Amino acid sequence: MLKAVWRVGAAGIPVIEEFRYKKRACFGPRRVVPRGFSNLRPFWWRRFNFVERGVCSLEKKILEIKERVLSELKKAESFDAIQEIRVKFLGKKGELTQVLRQMGTLAPEERPRIGQLANEVRALLTERLEKKLSILREQEKEKKLKSERIDVTLPGRPLRRGHRHPISLVLEEIKDIFTAMGFEIAEGPEVEWDYYNFEALNIPKDHPARDMQDSFYITDEILLRTHTSPVQVRVLEKSVPKVPVRIIAPGKVYRRDDDATHSPMFHQVEGLLVDKRCTLGDLKGVLLAFARQMFGQDRQIRLRPSFFPFTEPSAEVDISCVNCGGKGCRVCSWTGWLEILGAGMVHPRVLETTGYNPEEVVGFAFGMGVERIAMLKYGIPDLRLFFENDIRFLHQF
Ligand code: DAH
Repeated sequence: MLKAVWRVGAAGIPVIEEFRYKKRACFGPRRVVPRGFSNLRPFWWRRFNFVERGVCSLEKKILEIKERVLSELKKAESFDAIQEIRVKFLGKKGELTQVLRQMGTLAPEERPRIGQLANEVRALLTERLEKKLSILREQEKEKKLKSERIDVTLPGRPLRRGHRHPISLVLEEIKDIFTAMGFEIAEGPEVEWDYYNFEALNIPKDHPARDMQDSFYITDEILLRTHTSPVQVRVLEKSVPKVPVRIIAPGKVYRRDDDATHSPMFHQVEGLLVDKRCTLGDLKGVLLAFARQMFGQDRQIRLRPSFFPFTEPSAEVDISCVNCGGKGCRVCSWTGWLEILGAGMVHPRVLETTGYNPEEVVGFAFGMGVERIAMLKYGIPDLRLFFENDIRFLHQF
Protein backbone atom coordinates (compact mmCIF):
# COMPACT_ATOMS: atom_id res chain seq x y z
CA MET A 1 0.00 0.00 0.00
CA LEU A 2 1.26 3.45 -0.83
CA LYS A 3 0.45 6.56 1.01
CA ALA A 4 1.76 10.00 -0.02
CA VAL A 5 1.78 13.26 1.90
CA TRP A 6 2.74 16.60 0.38
CA ARG A 7 4.90 18.83 2.54
CA VAL A 8 6.79 22.08 2.05
CA GLY A 9 10.42 21.15 2.41
CA ALA A 10 13.49 23.29 2.90
CA ALA A 11 13.77 26.28 0.59
CA GLY A 12 10.14 25.91 -0.37
CA ILE A 13 10.69 22.82 -2.46
CA PRO A 14 7.72 20.56 -2.24
CA VAL A 15 8.39 17.11 -0.92
CA ILE A 16 6.23 14.07 -0.98
CA GLU A 17 6.53 11.81 1.92
CA GLU A 18 5.67 8.42 0.75
CA PHE A 19 4.91 5.55 3.03
CA ARG A 20 5.12 2.11 1.67
CA TYR A 21 3.59 -0.57 3.74
CA LYS A 22 4.34 -4.16 3.07
CA LYS A 23 2.40 -6.94 4.51
CA ARG A 24 5.02 -7.83 7.02
CA ALA A 25 7.61 -5.14 7.32
CA CYS A 26 7.03 -1.42 7.34
CA PHE A 27 9.50 0.89 5.62
CA GLY A 28 9.39 4.54 5.53
CA PRO A 29 8.96 7.36 5.41
CA ARG A 30 10.82 7.56 2.17
CA ARG A 31 11.33 10.99 0.64
CA VAL A 32 10.63 11.26 -2.97
CA VAL A 33 11.01 14.47 -4.92
CA PRO A 34 7.86 14.76 -6.99
CA ARG A 35 7.95 14.64 -10.75
CA GLY A 36 8.97 17.94 -12.33
CA PHE A 37 11.12 18.98 -9.39
CA SER A 38 14.74 18.22 -9.20
CA ASN A 39 16.58 17.36 -6.07
CA LEU A 40 19.20 19.77 -7.21
CA ARG A 41 18.51 23.46 -7.72
CA PRO A 42 16.74 23.56 -11.08
CA PHE A 43 17.86 25.82 -13.92
CA TRP A 44 15.02 28.29 -13.28
CA TRP A 45 15.99 28.72 -9.67
CA ARG A 46 17.08 32.34 -10.06
CA ARG A 47 14.08 33.50 -12.04
CA PHE A 48 11.50 31.68 -10.05
CA ASN A 49 13.02 32.16 -6.67
CA PHE A 50 11.09 30.31 -3.99
CA VAL A 51 12.81 32.29 -1.34
CA GLU A 52 11.69 35.58 -2.87
CA ARG A 53 8.16 34.27 -3.26
CA GLY A 54 8.22 33.01 0.31
CA VAL A 55 9.22 36.43 1.64
CA CYS A 56 6.43 38.16 -0.19
CA SER A 57 3.79 35.70 0.75
CA LEU A 58 4.94 35.38 4.36
CA GLU A 59 5.01 39.13 4.90
CA LYS A 60 1.67 39.46 3.19
CA LYS A 61 0.24 36.61 5.19
CA ILE A 62 1.41 38.10 8.48
CA LEU A 63 -0.06 41.51 7.62
CA GLU A 64 -3.24 39.95 6.39
CA ILE A 65 -3.60 37.95 9.59
CA LYS A 66 -3.09 41.16 11.53
CA GLU A 67 -5.91 42.88 9.66
CA ARG A 68 -8.23 39.93 10.07
CA VAL A 69 -7.58 39.67 13.78
CA LEU A 70 -8.18 43.39 14.26
CA SER A 71 -11.44 43.36 12.33
CA GLU A 72 -12.70 40.21 14.07
CA LEU A 73 -11.75 41.72 17.39
CA LYS A 74 -13.92 44.72 16.64
CA LYS A 75 -16.91 42.46 16.20
CA ALA A 76 -16.21 40.27 19.22
CA GLU A 77 -18.71 40.85 22.01
CA SER A 78 -17.98 38.14 24.53
CA PHE A 79 -15.14 36.54 26.42
CA ASP A 80 -15.71 33.34 24.51
CA ALA A 81 -15.41 35.10 21.16
CA ILE A 82 -12.10 36.66 22.19
CA GLN A 83 -10.80 33.37 23.43
CA GLU A 84 -11.78 31.85 20.10
CA ILE A 85 -9.80 34.49 18.22
CA ARG A 86 -6.80 33.90 20.44
CA VAL A 87 -6.86 30.17 19.75
CA LYS A 88 -7.56 30.62 16.05
CA PHE A 89 -4.67 32.97 15.38
CA LEU A 90 -2.19 32.97 18.24
CA GLY A 91 -2.65 29.50 19.70
CA LYS A 92 -0.28 26.60 19.25
CA LYS A 93 -2.05 25.58 16.08
CA GLY A 94 -3.15 29.13 15.27
CA GLU A 95 -2.68 30.73 11.88
CA LEU A 96 0.10 33.10 12.88
CA THR A 97 2.00 30.30 14.55
CA GLN A 98 1.64 28.17 11.43
CA VAL A 99 2.97 30.97 9.30
CA LEU A 100 5.94 31.49 11.59
CA ARG A 101 6.80 27.83 11.21
CA GLN A 102 7.58 28.61 7.58
CA MET A 103 10.38 31.00 8.58
CA GLY A 104 12.72 28.20 7.62
CA THR A 105 11.81 28.69 4.00
CA LEU A 106 13.21 32.23 4.01
CA ALA A 107 16.59 33.26 2.86
CA PRO A 108 18.86 33.77 5.89
CA GLU A 109 19.22 37.50 5.23
CA GLU A 110 15.41 37.96 5.23
CA ARG A 111 14.76 36.10 8.46
CA PRO A 112 15.60 38.90 10.94
CA ARG A 113 13.33 41.42 9.21
CA ILE A 114 10.35 39.08 8.87
CA GLY A 115 11.03 37.67 12.34
CA GLN A 116 10.91 41.14 13.82
CA LEU A 117 7.72 41.94 11.92
CA ALA A 118 6.13 38.72 13.13
CA ASN A 119 7.09 39.47 16.72
CA GLU A 120 5.74 42.99 16.50
CA VAL A 121 2.48 41.77 15.03
CA ARG A 122 2.18 39.08 17.69
CA ALA A 123 2.88 41.63 20.45
CA LEU A 124 0.40 44.10 18.97
CA LEU A 125 -2.32 41.47 18.61
CA THR A 126 -1.77 40.16 22.12
CA GLU A 127 -2.00 43.68 23.46
CA ARG A 128 -5.21 44.40 21.53
CA LEU A 129 -6.72 41.15 22.75
CA GLU A 130 -5.94 42.08 26.35
CA LYS A 131 -7.33 45.56 25.83
CA LYS A 132 -10.56 44.24 24.43
CA LEU A 133 -10.78 41.77 27.33
CA SER A 134 -10.39 44.50 29.90
CA ILE A 135 -13.01 46.64 28.14
CA LEU A 136 -15.39 43.72 28.21
CA ARG A 137 -14.66 43.12 31.87
CA GLU A 138 -15.38 46.76 32.60
CA GLN A 139 -18.68 46.56 30.71
CA GLU A 140 -19.60 43.38 32.54
CA LYS A 141 -18.94 45.06 35.88
CA GLU A 142 -20.97 48.09 34.89
CA LYS A 143 -23.87 45.87 33.86
CA LYS A 144 -23.71 43.98 37.13
CA LEU A 145 -23.59 47.16 39.16
CA LYS A 146 -26.61 48.47 37.32
CA SER A 147 -28.66 45.30 37.65
CA GLU A 148 -27.77 44.79 41.32
CA ARG A 149 -28.29 48.33 42.41
CA ILE A 150 -30.06 48.72 45.74
CA ASP A 151 -32.64 51.40 46.19
CA VAL A 152 -31.56 52.81 49.53
CA THR A 153 -34.58 55.09 49.61
CA LEU A 154 -37.00 52.14 50.01
CA PRO A 155 -38.49 52.04 53.50
CA GLY A 156 -36.93 49.34 55.69
CA ARG A 157 -38.71 46.25 56.94
CA PRO A 158 -39.71 46.87 60.52
CA LEU A 159 -38.12 44.66 63.19
CA ARG A 160 -40.72 42.81 65.17
CA ARG A 161 -40.65 43.71 68.83
CA GLY A 162 -40.10 40.77 71.17
CA HIS A 163 -42.54 40.05 73.97
CA ARG A 164 -41.92 38.96 77.50
CA HIS A 165 -43.60 35.70 78.35
CA PRO A 166 -46.67 36.13 80.57
CA ILE A 167 -45.02 33.93 83.22
CA SER A 168 -42.00 36.24 83.27
CA LEU A 169 -44.26 39.28 83.51
CA VAL A 170 -46.16 37.87 86.48
CA LEU A 171 -42.96 36.67 88.16
CA GLU A 172 -41.50 40.17 87.86
CA GLU A 173 -44.62 41.67 89.35
CA ILE A 174 -44.65 39.23 92.28
CA LYS A 175 -40.99 39.98 92.97
CA ASP A 176 -41.65 43.72 92.86
CA ILE A 177 -44.53 43.50 95.32
CA PHE A 178 -42.61 41.45 97.89
CA THR A 179 -39.27 43.22 97.60
CA ALA A 180 -41.16 46.47 98.22
CA MET A 181 -42.35 44.92 101.49
CA GLY A 182 -38.75 44.12 102.53
CA PHE A 183 -38.38 40.54 101.28
CA GLU A 184 -35.09 39.53 99.65
CA ILE A 185 -34.86 37.16 96.72
CA ALA A 186 -33.28 33.76 97.38
CA GLU A 187 -32.57 30.90 95.02
CA GLY A 188 -32.02 27.17 95.34
CA PRO A 189 -31.09 24.32 93.00
CA GLU A 190 -33.66 22.63 90.79
CA VAL A 191 -31.84 19.31 91.24
CA GLU A 192 -32.33 18.80 94.95
CA TRP A 193 -31.53 16.37 97.74
CA ASP A 194 -34.40 14.29 99.08
CA TYR A 195 -33.32 15.71 102.46
CA TYR A 196 -34.14 19.34 101.58
CA ASN A 197 -37.17 18.59 99.42
CA PHE A 198 -38.88 16.29 101.96
CA GLU A 199 -36.99 15.16 105.05
CA ALA A 200 -36.07 18.55 106.52
CA LEU A 201 -39.59 19.80 105.77
CA ASN A 202 -41.00 17.22 108.13
CA ILE A 203 -42.00 14.81 105.37
CA PRO A 204 -40.30 11.52 106.24
CA LYS A 205 -39.68 8.74 103.69
CA ASP A 206 -43.02 6.92 103.99
CA HIS A 207 -45.18 9.93 104.78
CA PRO A 208 -48.43 10.01 102.75
CA ALA A 209 -47.82 13.70 101.94
CA ARG A 210 -45.18 12.50 99.46
CA ASP A 211 -47.90 10.96 97.28
CA MET A 212 -49.12 14.40 96.23
CA GLN A 213 -45.68 15.38 95.00
CA ASP A 214 -44.41 12.46 92.96
CA SER A 215 -41.13 13.58 91.43
CA PHE A 216 -38.54 12.71 88.85
CA TYR A 217 -35.84 10.85 90.73
CA ILE A 218 -32.22 10.94 89.65
CA THR A 219 -31.08 8.61 92.41
CA ASP A 220 -32.84 7.49 95.60
CA GLU A 221 -31.52 10.59 97.30
CA ILE A 222 -31.51 13.15 94.45
CA LEU A 223 -34.55 14.44 92.56
CA LEU A 224 -35.99 17.40 90.67
CA ARG A 225 -37.48 19.58 93.39
CA THR A 226 -41.26 19.29 93.63
CA HIS A 227 -41.70 22.69 95.24
CA THR A 228 -39.70 25.76 96.24
CA SER A 229 -40.05 24.98 99.96
CA PRO A 230 -36.55 23.38 100.19
CA VAL A 231 -35.18 26.91 99.73
CA GLN A 232 -36.68 27.71 103.15
CA VAL A 233 -34.44 25.09 104.72
CA ARG A 234 -31.34 26.14 102.79
CA VAL A 235 -31.84 29.81 103.69
CA LEU A 236 -32.51 29.07 107.37
CA GLU A 237 -29.44 26.81 107.61
CA LYS A 238 -27.29 29.63 106.29
CA SER A 239 -28.87 32.42 108.35
CA VAL A 240 -28.99 30.72 111.76
CA PRO A 241 -29.08 32.29 114.32
CA LYS A 242 -29.79 35.63 112.65
CA VAL A 243 -33.29 37.15 112.62
CA PRO A 244 -35.24 38.48 110.89
CA VAL A 245 -35.18 36.26 107.82
CA ARG A 246 -37.38 37.63 105.03
CA ILE A 247 -37.10 35.98 101.64
CA ILE A 248 -39.08 34.99 98.62
CA ALA A 249 -37.75 32.17 96.41
CA PRO A 250 -39.04 32.10 92.84
CA GLY A 251 -38.18 29.24 90.49
CA LYS A 252 -39.05 26.16 88.49
CA VAL A 253 -40.42 23.03 90.08
CA TYR A 254 -41.22 19.57 88.68
CA ARG A 255 -43.89 16.96 89.26
CA ARG A 256 -45.07 13.78 87.61
CA ASP A 257 -48.33 15.37 86.37
CA ASP A 258 -49.53 16.28 82.92
CA ASP A 259 -53.06 17.45 82.09
CA ALA A 260 -55.09 20.61 81.39
CA THR A 261 -54.38 22.02 84.84
CA HIS A 262 -51.02 20.39 85.63
CA SER A 263 -47.72 20.58 83.80
CA PRO A 264 -44.62 18.48 84.61
CA MET A 265 -42.71 21.75 84.99
CA PHE A 266 -44.16 24.89 86.48
CA HIS A 267 -43.19 27.89 88.59
CA GLN A 268 -43.61 28.67 92.24
CA VAL A 269 -42.77 31.54 94.54
CA GLU A 270 -41.99 30.61 98.11
CA GLY A 271 -42.20 33.13 100.93
CA LEU A 272 -40.62 32.89 104.37
CA LEU A 273 -40.43 35.22 107.34
CA VAL A 274 -38.78 34.25 110.63
CA ASP A 275 -38.46 36.71 113.50
CA LYS A 276 -38.63 37.03 117.25
CA ARG A 277 -42.28 37.92 117.01
CA CYS A 278 -44.71 37.28 114.22
CA THR A 279 -48.30 36.07 113.99
CA LEU A 280 -50.86 34.62 111.65
CA GLY A 281 -52.19 38.17 111.48
CA ASP A 282 -48.89 39.35 109.95
CA LEU A 283 -49.15 36.54 107.39
CA LYS A 284 -52.68 37.55 106.51
CA GLY A 285 -51.70 41.21 106.22
CA VAL A 286 -48.82 40.44 103.90
CA LEU A 287 -50.97 38.20 101.70
CA LEU A 288 -53.82 40.71 101.58
CA ALA A 289 -51.39 43.42 100.49
CA PHE A 290 -50.07 41.10 97.82
CA ALA A 291 -53.54 40.08 96.59
CA ARG A 292 -54.68 43.69 96.32
CA GLN A 293 -51.62 44.84 94.39
CA MET A 294 -51.79 41.87 92.11
CA PHE A 295 -55.55 41.61 91.49
CA GLY A 296 -56.96 45.01 92.40
CA GLN A 297 -57.64 47.02 95.54
CA ASP A 298 -61.16 45.64 96.10
CA ARG A 299 -59.90 42.04 96.59
CA GLN A 300 -60.69 40.20 99.82
CA ILE A 301 -58.82 37.16 101.08
CA ARG A 302 -59.77 34.30 103.34
CA LEU A 303 -57.77 31.59 105.08
CA ARG A 304 -59.17 28.07 105.18
CA PRO A 305 -57.69 25.52 107.56
CA SER A 306 -55.55 22.98 105.75
CA PHE A 307 -52.57 20.72 106.26
CA PHE A 308 -48.91 20.94 105.26
CA PRO A 309 -46.28 18.94 107.16
CA PHE A 310 -43.95 21.98 107.40
CA THR A 311 -46.48 24.49 108.78
CA GLU A 312 -48.65 24.46 111.86
CA PRO A 313 -51.28 25.73 111.66
CA SER A 314 -51.69 25.55 107.88
CA ALA A 315 -54.09 27.30 105.57
CA GLU A 316 -55.22 27.50 101.98
CA VAL A 317 -55.59 31.11 100.95
CA ASP A 318 -58.39 32.26 98.62
CA ILE A 319 -59.04 35.62 96.99
CA SER A 320 -62.47 36.92 96.11
CA CYS A 321 -63.19 35.94 92.52
CA VAL A 322 -61.49 38.19 89.97
CA ASN A 323 -64.36 37.63 87.55
CA CYS A 324 -67.51 38.18 89.63
CA GLY A 325 -66.05 39.88 92.71
CA GLY A 326 -67.54 37.23 95.00
CA LYS A 327 -71.09 36.89 93.72
CA GLY A 328 -70.40 33.51 92.15
CA CYS A 329 -69.75 32.61 88.53
CA ARG A 330 -68.35 29.86 86.32
CA VAL A 331 -64.73 30.91 86.97
CA CYS A 332 -65.03 30.40 90.73
CA SER A 333 -67.38 27.42 90.42
CA TRP A 334 -70.14 29.53 92.00
CA THR A 335 -68.26 29.83 95.30
CA GLY A 336 -67.15 33.44 94.95
CA TRP A 337 -63.59 32.44 95.93
CA LEU A 338 -60.43 31.38 94.09
CA GLU A 339 -57.64 29.43 95.77
CA ILE A 340 -54.26 31.00 95.09
CA LEU A 341 -51.75 29.66 97.59
CA GLY A 342 -50.86 27.58 100.62
CA ALA A 343 -49.47 29.09 103.79
CA GLY A 344 -49.00 28.65 107.53
CA MET A 345 -46.81 29.22 110.55
CA VAL A 346 -43.43 27.52 110.18
CA HIS A 347 -43.48 24.14 111.95
CA PRO A 348 -41.24 24.11 115.06
CA ARG A 349 -39.56 20.97 113.74
CA VAL A 350 -38.38 22.81 110.60
CA LEU A 351 -36.92 25.58 112.74
CA GLU A 352 -35.26 23.01 114.96
CA THR A 353 -33.78 21.03 112.06
CA THR A 354 -32.14 24.16 110.70
CA GLY A 355 -30.66 25.14 114.08
CA TYR A 356 -33.14 27.78 115.26
CA ASN A 357 -34.71 27.55 118.69
CA PRO A 358 -38.51 27.33 118.24
CA GLU A 359 -38.89 28.70 121.77
CA GLU A 360 -37.25 31.95 120.67
CA VAL A 361 -38.30 32.54 117.07
CA VAL A 362 -41.48 32.13 115.05
CA GLY A 363 -42.19 32.43 111.36
CA PHE A 364 -44.71 32.18 108.59
CA ALA A 365 -44.38 30.75 105.11
CA PHE A 366 -46.38 30.62 101.93
CA GLY A 367 -46.08 29.13 98.49
CA MET A 368 -47.92 30.00 95.30
CA GLY A 369 -48.04 28.68 91.75
CA VAL A 370 -47.10 31.38 89.25
CA GLU A 371 -49.07 29.83 86.38
CA ARG A 372 -52.22 29.84 88.49
CA ILE A 373 -51.72 33.52 89.35
CA ALA A 374 -51.12 34.35 85.67
CA MET A 375 -54.20 32.42 84.54
CA LEU A 376 -56.38 34.31 87.01
CA LYS A 377 -54.80 37.67 86.25
CA TYR A 378 -55.11 37.41 82.47
CA GLY A 379 -58.15 35.10 82.23
CA ILE A 380 -56.22 32.28 80.52
CA PRO A 381 -58.37 29.14 80.36
CA ASP A 382 -55.73 26.45 79.73
CA LEU A 383 -52.38 26.02 81.47
CA ARG A 384 -50.84 24.41 78.40
CA LEU A 385 -51.01 27.70 76.47
CA PHE A 386 -48.02 28.90 78.50
CA PHE A 387 -45.76 26.20 77.13
CA GLU A 388 -46.95 25.74 73.55
CA ASN A 389 -45.20 28.88 72.30
CA ASP A 390 -48.04 29.82 69.97
CA ILE A 391 -47.10 33.28 68.75
CA ARG A 392 -50.77 34.33 68.51
CA PHE A 393 -51.06 33.70 72.23
CA LEU A 394 -47.74 35.23 73.26
CA HIS A 395 -48.38 38.36 71.18
CA GLN A 396 -51.17 39.42 73.51
CA PHE A 397 -48.92 40.29 76.44
N1 DAH B 1 -44.86 23.71 98.98
C1 DAH B 1 -46.28 23.64 98.89
C2 DAH B 1 -46.71 22.97 97.59
O1 DAH B 1 -45.97 22.99 96.68
C3 DAH B 1 -46.89 25.01 98.97
C4 DAH B 1 -46.73 25.62 100.29
C5 DAH B 1 -47.75 25.50 101.24
C6 DAH B 1 -45.61 26.30 100.62
C7 DAH B 1 -47.62 26.06 102.48
C8 DAH B 1 -45.47 26.90 101.87
C9 DAH B 1 -46.49 26.74 102.78
O2 DAH B 1 -44.39 27.57 102.24
O3 DAH B 1 -46.36 27.32 104.02
O4 DAH B 1 -47.79 22.46 97.55
